Amino acid sequence: MRTFTSSQKIFNTLFFTSLAGATLLVGCKEPAAPNTANSNAAPTSGGGDSMKAKVYEGADILLGEYGSMTGSTATFGKSSHNGIKMALDEINAAGGVLKKQVKVTALDDKGVADEAATVVKRLITQENVLVILGEVASSRSLAAAPICQSAGVPMISPSSTNPAVTEKGDFIFRTCFIDPFQGTVGAKFAKETLKASKAAVLTDVKNDYSVGLAKFFEEEFIKNGGQIVAKSSYSEGDKDFHTQLTGIKGKSPDVIYIPGYYTDAGNIAIQARSLGMKQPLLGGDGWDSEKLTTIGKGAVQGSYFSSHYSPESKDPRVMKFVADYKKNYGATPDSLAACAYDAAKLMCDAIERAGSTDRDKIRDAIAATKDFPGVTGNITIDAKRNAIKPAVMLQVKGNEFKYVATVNP
Ligand code: PHE
Repeated sequence: MRTFTSSQKIFNTLFFTSLAGATLLVGCKEPAAPNTANSNAAPTSGGGDSMKAKVYEGADILLGEYGSMTGSTATFGKSSHNGIKMALDEINAAGGVLKKQVKVTALDDKGVADEAATVVKRLITQENVLVILGEVASSRSLAAAPICQSAGVPMISPSSTNPAVTEKGDFIFRTCFIDPFQGTVGAKFAKETLKASKAAVLTDVKNDYSVGLAKFFEEEFIKNGGQIVAKSSYSEGDKDFHTQLTGIKGKSPDVIYIPGYYTDAGNIAIQARSLGMKQPLLGGDGWDSEKLTTIGKGAVQGSYFSSHYSPESKDPRVMKFVADYKKNYGATPDSLAACAYDAAKLMCDAIERAGSTDRDKIRDAIAATKDFPGVTGNITIDAKRNAIKPAVMLQVKGNEFKYVATVNP
């Protein structure tokens, strides 16, 4: 199994790919193979990125994966990779896909959108993967999806929830719910369970997910008779949130919604508490990381966030997954691991159903998925290539995220 490449290697790849594109690689490795053989593939999109992937000729079934294995969202990439590896090990032990073994080449995008585009280009033109899994973060999926679309390579994001991701084209799918739903779940929870009537929202403006989720939360909270008393913003990686938090404090909200990722959320919580702010903090799936409590410590205790599944579930399917994951990795699987495990299994199931490595047929098989039994719920792909699934609310208690409720769409 391949793992992550050094930045030097990625740099070399970028240099080559941007100079010569797919044609050079096809010419180098297999001069006879025309790179246009994938005839009725998807319409190309996005100016200079037009490059069809060459016909798949691998001896095994090779999946490509891109994710943040390093950087401030490193647990997203690492957990996802663990989930994918576990899925493939199980599939291979049961005979593989199309009677072949399944492998994955995973590349680190360092949590940077431009880097996501670069490594996905590389997966397609140099690693010659059949299909692609990733990313977690919507901004990174949005950067790479046009490349997969243009190349006619099916991509499944296990956990990107911004609606725009799958709007990039008919080769782009996700196996998780989307943020218009997640925002509604958060707003209803704030209103009905926390009995909040005034909310403040603190958004990461560099992050498509955060901007979208903030908007959907606000709309629903207002629709339910609530008031948004403060809207403030920061940029991923900021260290000092005192100005924003002081402004929010002055408006005395009943709850503060922070639709960002765990590193920033943890730091924001610490600073809010140091300013004497006692309001409940509420987040979305971006909080789901074992690092949330190591960074946020006591400041995040008692906070709530919406996510994709609970490892406490008594569903036998989930219990087996959690037990096997603990055995393999010595940790409780977070929702990234669970979502990625499901996405990998669904992808393999679709390839098997397609009956071939023709990417158009695989695309059609993914689109036709109905009631696929995942550990994050049953997955049916809708006409917009999204999954319709329940969400869960979790509460931070000690180093654990305790199950509070399931919300159905
Ligand atoms: N939904 C987030 C996004 O779209 C990513 C995420 C999913 C983060 C699940 C944590 C857990 O950016």
